[in-house]
Amino acid sequence: MSKALGNNPGRDWEIFYKENELNWENKEYYTEKYMHSFLKSEWMHSLIAHLKPGQKVLEAGCGTGLFSIALAYAGYEVTAIDYNEAAIELSQNNLDLFNSQSEKKLKIDFSQGDLLNLEFQNNTFNMVFNQAVLEYFTDDDNFDKAISEMHRVTVAGGTVVAIVQNTRNPIRPLWNLMGLQFYINQPNVRLIHRQVLQKYFSRYFKIVSIDGLLPWKAVFMAPKKFHKVTYYLNRFFEKFVPQPKVLRSKIGIQLVVVGLKG
Ligand SMILES: C[S@@+](CC[C@H](N)C(=O)[O-])C[C@H]1O[C@@H](n2cnc3c(N)ncnc32)[C@H](O)[C@@H]1O
Repeated sequence: MSKALGNNPGRDWEIFYKENELNWENKEYYTEKYMHSFLKSEWMHSLIAHLKPGQKVLEAGCGTGLFSIALAYAGYEVTAIDYNEAAIELSQNNLDLFNSQSEKKLKIDFSQGDLLNLEFQNNTFNMVFNQAVLEYFTDDDNFDKAISEMHRVTVAGGTVVAIVQNTRNPIRPLWNLMGLQFYINQPNVRLIHRQVLQKYFSRYFKIVSIDGLLPWKAVFMAPKKFHKVTYYLNRFFEKFVPQPKVLRSKIGIQLVVVGLKG
């Protein structure tokens, strides 16, 4: 008999979708112009760097569908699941919105599904990824099971990429001191840092690499009235003052872990 699993964050998100106004949903994102610039972002780069043109991708926990839509726009064959029907509806609406205001018409296979029990055969996708999903698996067995499911449905030679909040970022308490509230109204998150990701991913993948995203942005966080100054400081430093990977994965706002399936 399989081991009984603890809390599934899909259920916490179900409550979140019912009770909260989404403050991370923005209709202006679903245009070709926005997709162009989003595809140049560090988030998208961390995915596309591991793909060949036209390959098959699964987003496991798609939320608004933004990442899936951007990848479909870039020409990949995208399938996306989410535990919550509300998220699937939201993603489909966003795709319809994009198609209604763009020349390029995109197709994505959205469906309801559970990351802890993916309804796909072994070795199906060239890449399986998610963004802001794994950190909500506060139960260790479920965290492990989610990674093993992502691994199972990935082809040999393919990659699993997870982008997660750097919950132990040493600068994070400083944001709180400045009264900057991020990630409000979200379900509980687990402790995540480099070593945690390394430990769990190396159970399944022969090569694991970890990097930090937007490390300068973490440094230049400031109250709203200083946003213009910090925006330009941040852009300048990101362009001209690169940080070594070790530092990036210490202070990056998010961490990106890539597992290569042998
Ligand atoms: C922060 S949102 C992801 C945001 C997404 N990257 C975006 O760009 O909108 C987290 C999502 O993970 C989904 N999720 C949580 N547990 C899940 C599970 N067991 N299976 C599938 N999806 C799950 C939630 O329903 C929620 O939509």
